[in-house]
Amino acid sequence: MENWEPKIATFLCNWCSYGAADLAGVSRFQYPPNFRIIRLPCSARVSPKFVLSAFRHGADGVWISGCHPGDCHYLEGNYYARRKFALLKGLLEHIGLEAGRLHFSWISSAEATKFVDVANRVAKEVEAMGPARFFIKSRAEVA
Ligand code: FES
Repeated sequence: MENWEPKIATFLCNWCSYGAADLAGVSRFQYPPNFRIIRLPCSARVSPKFVLSAFRHGADGVWISGCHPGDCHYLEGNYYARRKFALLKGLLEHIGLEAGRLHFSWISSAEATKFVDVANRVAKEVEAMGPARFFIKSRAEVA
């Protein structure tokens, strides 16, 4: 598919991973422009419905990132997020979504280089799989 670029819905916790993305930006670190960043108060705020909706509306991949274990501003939100993610990923892969379209990470606000590394890896993996078609009947629906 010519000129195709993956769209990756990216849910970032305000306190850590969003800070890392911001720091990467102000530090002028380069990373692929495929990410549509949605800032949330905590990674625990990511509902499975958000992920399904992102795929349904044309995302080719989803990336969720929050604070490191022990650093969540809401104490255990990132643990809940990780558990929800593991269940959802297992379920979606069981019904046919390709592994590698759904990613989870823990990145602190000081880890701009880690943010860039993970962004590069996620973009490369999603791009290698091509457009996601599992949740949509045709690309015309989301154009
Ligand atoms: S506040 Fe960052 S994951 Fe909860």
